[in-house]
Amino acid sequence: MTNKRWTISLILLFFLFLYVLFHFVITTKKIEQTVEQLQQTTQLAKPLPHFVLISQEFDNPYWRKVEQGAKEAAKHYRVNVEYIGPLRTSMDEQMKLLEKAIASRVDGIIVQSLNDARFTPLINKAIGRNIPVITIDTDAPMSRRLAYVGTNNFEAGQLLGKAVASRVAGKKKIGVIIGSDTSENQQLRLQGFQSIISQHPSLTVVAVAASNISRIQASIQAEKMLRTYPDISVMVGTSALDAIGILMATKNLDRSDVQIFGFDDVKETLQAIEQGKIVATVIQKPYDMGFSAVKLMVEHLSGKQIEKEHFTATEIVDKTNVELEGVK
Ligand code: BGC
Repeated sequence: MTNKRWTISLILLFFLFLYVLFHFVITTKKIEQTVEQLQQTTQLAKPLPHFVLISQEFDNPYWRKVEQGAKEAAKHYRVNVEYIGPLRTSMDEQMKLLEKAIASRVDGIIVQSLNDARFTPLINKAIGRNIPVITIDTDAPMSRRLAYVGTNNFEAGQLLGKAVASRVAGKKKIGVIIGSDTSENQQLRLQGFQSIISQHPSLTVVAVAASNISRIQASIQAEKMLRTYPDISVMVGTSALDAIGILMATKNLDRSDVQIFGFDDVKETLQAIEQGKIVATVIQKPYDMGFSAVKLMVEHLSGKQIEKEHFTATEIVDKTNVELEGVK
């Protein structure tokens, strides 16, 4: 072959090679795109993780704030949060809802554990079936729960005690309305409260009654208490609707001299503080509890090690800072 022919053949071969290479690159790119599309479709089709949040009472304003925080976190972390709870507080009903959540094999359970002894076996059952459980608002420290998110209830009771001790003068008899006789957060708050009051000889707790977390019951119990012990001049409530129930009772009995202290930042309590009808309230952070519980559950599912106790903040609100809180 002459040199010229060789050159022409080489040039032709080179162009052939370029052609094949070009097609190879194009085909590879197409395959990559198809694989990517397929991956996205499977991701979209995969259902979001499903968490259940079980409250003490479905429509209670305090629990609605917990729900709000949890739903906000659900949007943020792309998970589904189903909020459920008994229509009226009932420990049995709450335990049934927990049983149902376990049976439906949800991806995570966030539950208020009203009573350690009764809730622990159920929480452990969930853990045994690989369903992580986070307790919220009230802990079950004996159980195998992943973590607790909420107030340190003993310390919150102490804070209430300090609020009373620093705002009342002279010898005083105190009446206490607690949310429930059987729920542990209420018992802890009562113990914390009494631990402070017992350090002040001029102050005595003369009666304790339960409201069953109902405003009407709080009012009925407070009225009964004030009739039985007319020398009570300070009343405290340790769950969200107790202070406004007590206020109703003092109105019925025309006892505006009674100094009232409460728990939580429900609208009516904050309004009554502004109007000088309730002295102060210990506020919790229910929104933060809901948000953090969902966030921790997501972190746990992604393999992160999480701490066992996450205490949310509490603070005293009285006439001096009620505007900062904003009457919501
Ligand atoms: C408590 C909750 C309770 C709510 C009732 C709050 O102070 O932390 O456990 O369910 O009051 O109103």
